[in-house]
Amino acid sequence: MYINNLKLENFRNYNLLDIDLDKGLNIFIGNNAQGKTNLLESIYILAIGKSYKEHKDMELINWDKEDLYIKTILTKKYREEHINIYINKNKKKTISINELYINKLIKLIGIINIVIFTPDDLLFFKNGPDVRRQYFDAQISQIDRVYFENIQKYYKIVKQRNNILKNKNVSRETLCVWDHQLMQYGKEVIRKRSEYVKELQNIIFEIHKSLTSNKEDIELIYNNNVSEQDFEKELENSLELEKKYGYTMVGPHKDDYSFKVNNKDLKRYGSQGQQRTAILSLKFAEIELIKNITGENPILLLDDVLSELDNQRQKHLIKYIQKVQTILTTTEFDENIMKELNIGKIFNIKEGKIV
Ligand SMILES: Nc1ncnc2c1ncn2[C@@H]1O[C@H](COP(=O)(O)OP(=O)(O)OP(=O)(O)O)[C@@H](O)[C@H]1O
Ligand SMILES: [Mg+2]
Repeated sequence: MYINNLKLENFRNYNLLDIDLDKGLNIFIGNNAQGKTNLLESIYILAIGKSYKEHKDMELINWDKEDLYIKTILTKKYREEHINIYINKNKKKTISINELYINKLIKLIGIINIVIFTPDDLLFFKNGPDVRRQYFDAQISQIDRVYFENIQKYYKIVKQRNNILKNKNVSRETLCVWDHQLMQYGKEVIRKRSEYVKELQNIIFEIHKSLTSNKEDIELIYNNNVSEQDFEKELENSLELEKKYGYTMVGPHKDDYSFKVNNKDLKRYGSQGQQRTAILSLKFAEIELIKNITGENPILLLDDVLSELDNQRQKHLIKYIQKVQTILTTTEFDENIMKELNIGKIFNIKEGKIV
């Protein structure tokens, strides 16, 4: 799949942007704070429905304006898709696909598949489990709408159940109703997450081997807080504590993911370079998985990451860049890297405008 056209109106520092993209490699060059990351963020929102940054939709609207549009025309194997997102300051948000308004975000998910590389990727190891959960939730949702729906429902139930637990006199019967739903959706989430990790592991192992010249065996691990089988028992066991602290202590909202390289935990023992390489392998594996499952190539978003990689890793990344639509941002045009690439279009960004 590839994006033909992208239009931004009053999106962050863009007043009006209207660009036709190349099917292959698109490079956006600009100094700091000109709008490179904002542009990639808009594409992320088209794919996932909301930003990867922790913030409210309102913050996406240009400071001096009342509302924004993000519009795109996309070519897929068998059809074209038109997506429009509108957000205004009164918290109104509407999304239309091929001129039809959708009432649920789920209808947007998966139309555009993306794999994004950002300088923040290393936070994958430095931050807490919520960052890793959020990352994988977005990736799984892109290829499985049922998962997206289950995870939304699950988080909602956790929130409501927490509210109920805050009432010290809550009866066992009341809680039972919530426990039932918590387990129903929770088990679906656990099942899908472990299935996803298994599928990804099959792919990532070989990719990582080749990225590290056969030196490293990588293992992606799903550290689930509770298994499907033990959910009920563990929930029962932690009831007293849950009542004491007023929140749900068992379930996939406490899951985590980790990597092992040659049997050693990468978060704890890995060097910066090893961690970076693992993330690269992860993303390459995701490209392959999306392709296997949807039959379409995802779109690659690369936010100023090429220069941080060594030669060998750059070459691998370039190999993927040549196969799928890529939107790459950079502050400097590095001749050495660029001469290896088959460039489609180059855009110069300055203060939210193409110059
Ligand atoms: N809602 C908004 N309205 C107007 N401007 C905004 C809004 N949100 C962010 N900006 C501005 O957009 C500018 C460009 O941000 P962006 O992150 O895209 O820069 P960049 O080109 O990626 O820079 P860098 O090379 O430093 O990563 C920032 O200076 C920021 O102040
Ligand atoms: Mg940036």
